[in-house]
Amino acid sequence: MHKRPLGKSSVQISPLMLGTWAIGGARWGGTNEADAIAAIQMSIDQGIDTIDTAPVYGFGLSEELIAKAIRGRREKVIIATKCGLLWAMPEGYNDHTAALNPTMMVPVVNNCTKESIVFECEQSLKRLNIDVIDLYQIHWPDPATPLEESWSAMVKLKEQGKVRAIGVSNFNLEQLKTVHALYPVDSLQSPFSLIHKELQEEILPFCQQQQIAVLAYSPLERGLLTGKVSLERQFKPGDHRQEKEEFSLENRKKILEKLQKIVPIAEKHHATLAQVVLQCTLHRPGITAAIVGARNPSQALENAQALLLELSSQEKELVFQAF
Ligand SMILES: NC(=O)c1ccc[n+]([C@@H]2O[C@H](COP(=O)([O-])OP(=O)(O)OC[C@H]3O[C@@H](n4cnc5c(N)ncnc54)[C@H](OP(=O)(O)O)[C@@H]3O)[C@@H](O)[C@H]2O)c1
Repeated sequence: MHKRPLGKSSVQISPLMLGTWAIGGARWGGTNEADAIAAIQMSIDQGIDTIDTAPVYGFGLSEELIAKAIRGRREKVIIATKCGLLWAMPEGYNDHTAALNPTMMVPVVNNCTKESIVFECEQSLKRLNIDVIDLYQIHWPDPATPLEESWSAMVKLKEQGKVRAIGVSNFNLEQLKTVHALYPVDSLQSPFSLIHKELQEEILPFCQQQQIAVLAYSPLERGLLTGKVSLERQFKPGDHRQEKEEFSLENRKKILEKLQKIVPIAEKHHATLAQVVLQCTLHRPGITAAIVGARNPSQALENAQALLLELSSQEKELVFQAF
């Protein structure tokens, strides 16, 4: 598969990445370990060898499931994880209890101090059972810590060889420019989809000009853009989608109507809506990769096969204009 460079770093990534937030279970109504591991392995088998995770996804569980799934094939995968969000587990509970009891509320706080970043990196290396992290990202900027302090800790980890590339996530243009001026940012991870195109206004052109890779997260809008979130679909207790305005019946109806405009393109190519949406997102100018979540091997296979689609430029534009 054709790889794409991760900014100016030596790391090469697949244009579709596997996102592992949902398989951590917390805020997603729980997880099924066997399905999660099979989804990761299916993705790797299909050439989706770049995996995005974070310590906070399932309070360590997502990283641990990745460790199990990649045992014996570390050299085949590129692992991206993050730092900057810490959780405070209520007394009497361990991290796994919380991940597997998805209705439990666990407070999460920002912390991007130098000490915390260094500590978190060691914890992730242990949970992932690897010697080096391919891409290390600040998950969210920490309003209480100067960006300079956080970024110099990231640079130090790169210089020490603990991580191969460094990036940021959920940074605005000003924050991105501040850290990039100190030391080159390899990648920016941000929301981007047919529905959320705000990135195109200022941030994408800046990243293109500066050779910063852009990793688009939630390209399927947490399932909404697959066409499979019907009006009848119920979410499990503890799945954050059941409270989100985007998943209201009114909005589901609106999205399903818009998706109808894409159906003829999907049918012509014998593809699913999810595959058409993913193919159009990852080929958007300035997008380096789309990070898509999959809960089980059949979703992972369907999503990976989006890479085989050959849509014309006109079709891709039509899909983007449908929203
Ligand atoms: N940096 C950040 O702050 C941040 C924020 C959000 C996400 N991310 C990253 O981006 C990744 C992807 O984002 P996301 O998980 O929010 O959203 P997404 O990729 O848009 O949607 C993933 C969800 O859609 C459903 N789905 C996926 N493929 C499907 C298919 N073929 N058919 C039907 N349903 C399908 C699954 O949920 P169900 O089966 O439960 O419906 C899956 O969990 C995350 O895992 C994470 O790595 C990062």
